[in-house]
Amino acid sequence: MLTYTKIQSMLEECGQSHLLNFFNELSEAEQQQLLNQISSVNFHEANELFGKAMKSLDGDLQEIDSLMEPVPESQFEAEDTCDPIKLENYRNKGLEEISKGNIGVLLMAGGQGTRLGVTYPKGMYSVGLPSGKTLFQIQAERIRRLQTLAERRTGIAGCIPWYIMTSGRTHEETRHFLEKNDYFGLDKDNVVLFEQGLLPCFNYDGKIILDQMNVISMAPDGNGGIYKALHQNGILEDMNRRGVKYVHAHSVDNILVKVADPVFVGYCLEKGADCGAKVVKKASPTEAVGVVCKVAGHYQVVEYSEVSEETAKKTNDKGELLFNAGNICNHFFTVDFLAEVARKHDRFMKVHVAKKKIPYVDEHGVRYSPKSPNGIKIEKFVFDVFQFTDNFVTWEVPRYTEFSALKNPDEVARDCPSTARRDILNLHKVLVERAGGVVDGEIEISPLLSYSGEDLESKVKGKVFDSYMTVLIQSDEEIVKHKSNGVINGHN
Ligand code: UD1
Repeated sequence: MLTYTKIQSMLEECGQSHLLNFFNELSEAEQQQLLNQISSVNFHEANELFGKAMKSLDGDLQEIDSLMEPVPESQFEAEDTCDPIKLENYRNKGLEEISKGNIGVLLMAGGQGTRLGVTYPKGMYSVGLPSGKTLFQIQAERIRRLQTLAERRTGIAGCIPWYIMTSGRTHEETRHFLEKNDYFGLDKDNVVLFEQGLLPCFNYDGKIILDQMNVISMAPDGNGGIYKALHQNGILEDMNRRGVKYVHAHSVDNILVKVADPVFVGYCLEKGADCGAKVVKKASPTEAVGVVCKVAGHYQVVEYSEVSEETAKKTNDKGELLFNAGNICNHFFTVDFLAEVARKHDRFMKVHVAKKKIPYVDEHGVRYSPKSPNGIKIEKFVFDVFQFTDNFVTWEVPRYTEFSALKNPDEVARDCPSTARRDILNLHKVLVERAGGVVDGEIEISPLLSYSGEDLESKVKGKVFDSYMTVLIQSDEEIVKHKSNGVINGHN
């Protein structure tokens, strides 16, 4: 750690010496805490990012709009219109790679869940399914099921390491939660947690904000912090050591996410892609999702806030939205590409700025929680590396089978616990009906029994699940009834 004098002169050089304003008023322990925190920040880099961030605020909407083009057909395929034999080939390819231990999952779980309004990691959230399962449990069980399916296909037990990126505030709780729940049946050695970086919060004049007299205000550096974090935490080496060659990276908050989806992986591999994005058709021109497209010839995601309504509403000759590839934070990367980003491109990544209400201490040391934005948080976004790819592909999937995000509390009535619960139960009803069952009530299928509708017939064919029941289908417990005051017709 640096000495006080060194820290003082370094802060002076970087124009941040106000961070020591209250130093003499602090206890010895508090002084130490502040010095430790200051030593952990790269102020030159932070100042540089602030400069980049302020420049990006001056960006011109018109400019992006006029440079946007849709993803070319050669780099795009949709599950809905894909030939079934090709689809099966993609799936088999994916399962074979899983058997070989070539696929890892990279879960981005470092967000703070501010919109949802929870104080704990979002992955620990339960939307009130009959089983009571949390997002983490659903995802872990999907991994377990895929390992079984890969073994069934090839005879070799596959293993999918689960890399979970957390941030300062979610790390310990996530670790504790997974440990307490015995990693939901996954092998502890194959669950690897690592922390993303933090960046200081600034006021508009480029001064770093003091959250308390002895604490700098810091926030996670965005899901694009993943590249630096993979490198700094030795995760890329871990992947190499285990022989992981490809990863499926996704957000924590999509209850329908097909973790390590063999079809998506198979498609990307078949196309020889170094990077891929799974997308859904936008629900409406103004839906709050980014769109995958090209800007000035480079692949990019343009966030909904960055595009004018006029461009968002443009249609093609089929009458569909021209910019229809809704980004769902669901990506494929080769590990070689991740390493290249960490080595070469990370420092050239774009930065994004969010004006926020950031608690601060004033010149007298009094702490305030402002009512309007008083500063900025700087973030990098995971998709801002698309421009560095050699071969980028896009795979479109039906929304009802793959995307229902948990972002907001129920009052907002969209992307909230009720819609996530509704969408997963609706999908499970469709899958049971496709397998020959009749569902009048609610039905939940355990991921341990079925990943995407397979193996259901023997459990549900010819059975009627009446409207008084909430039924849960497990692999081991057969059919479990909740709140049931009726019978499952046709069930022995
Ligand atoms: C994200 C996408 C957006 C897409 C939408 C779909 C990004 C930058 N934006 O937006 O294009 O349409 O999902 O739902 O990917 N996270 C971290 N560390 C952070 C910040 C976030 O790990 O510092 C994680 C979150 O825990 C979450 C994921 O990244 O799992 C997405 O972050 P979030 O802030 O929810 O992104 P959105 O604004 O919803």
